[in-house]
Amino acid sequence: MRLRGRRRGHHTSGHHTGEHHPAGTRDHAVELRDVRRSYGRGGSAVHALRGIDLALPRGSFTAVMGPSGSGKSTFLQCAAGLDRPTAGSVRLGGTEITGMSENKLTALRRSRLGFVFQAFNLLPSLTVEQNVLLPLRLAGVRPDRRLARELLAQVGLHEHSRRRPGQLSGGQQQRVAIARALVTRPDVVFADEPTGALDTVTAAEVLVLLRHAVDALGATVVMVTHDPVAAGYADHTLFLADGSIADRLPRSPAAEIAERMTRLTGRVPAAAAAALAGGPVR
Ligand SMILES: Nc1ncnc2c1ncn2[C@@H]1O[C@H](COP(=O)(O)OP(=O)(O)OP(=O)(O)O)[C@@H](O)[C@H]1O
Ligand SMILES: [Mg+2]
Repeated sequence: MRLRGRRRGHHTSGHHTGEHHPAGTRDHAVELRDVRRSYGRGGSAVHALRGIDLALPRGSFTAVMGPSGSGKSTFLQCAAGLDRPTAGSVRLGGTEITGMSENKLTALRRSRLGFVFQAFNLLPSLTVEQNVLLPLRLAGVRPDRRLARELLAQVGLHEHSRRRPGQLSGGQQQRVAIARALVTRPDVVFADEPTGALDTVTAAEVLVLLRHAVDALGATVVMVTHDPVAAGYADHTLFLADGSIADRLPRSPAAEIAERMTRLTGRVPAAAAAALAGGPVR
């Protein structure tokens, strides 16, 4: 199946996807420019993101790792238009979303973004196929049952399309969620710990599927994960520490990714020690 070839007109016209544009234009699915996000004000403010600069090409698979509290969820929320940065700008599929009205943002999220969460978030009263079609209904697009069936075949669940989520295993439910995330042929799929609730074998199936969505269907995936094995499926891994990108790796074996993580978390005891000693934490 070629999701790329069926994308809406403004994506498929060749002159938009070619190499003739300078960097920072339409061939990037996600662009963040000096994105900052603080909670609270003054001395007690928490700086969850301290200036993130990033441009992710279409058709790429990015993993985001970092110690607890480093800003991964805040990053994902800001990049996906679920939260508003305190400063900086976010572009999705070439569209500037900074300052966009809440209604427009909601419409953009529904039609041009896909989401996969740790907890699957399927609707229990709908069948598998109805769950996959839900984003189209919400976006006011005519539900394309053939596309739903094609996607369910891609994730190996075509025979289960009439079941309810409660009749599926965790891994199968997550595969439905991935089919659902792809059904609008989104500019970006954002995944927050998609394998966090799965055993190792099932997690691998889900990761193979995300990889397949990128390689065969032309999807762009941004995945937050704590698991170096999961990050090993991505084209590159970004490491957040204290709200900044502290490191990055091209596609690497899990052991190497784990080693980088250990280096990052090695800083945490130092910060904690400073806090205990009454000194500045940052
Ligand atoms: N609503 C909020 N109000 C105040 N502080 C917040 C809020 N949300 C997040 N923070 C703070 O921002 C920082 C980054 O949080 P974030 O949830 O992005 O971390 P994370 O990397 O996703 O961590 P984890 O791996 O534990 O999920 C933390 O210091 C957190 O306490
Ligand atoms: Mg988090």
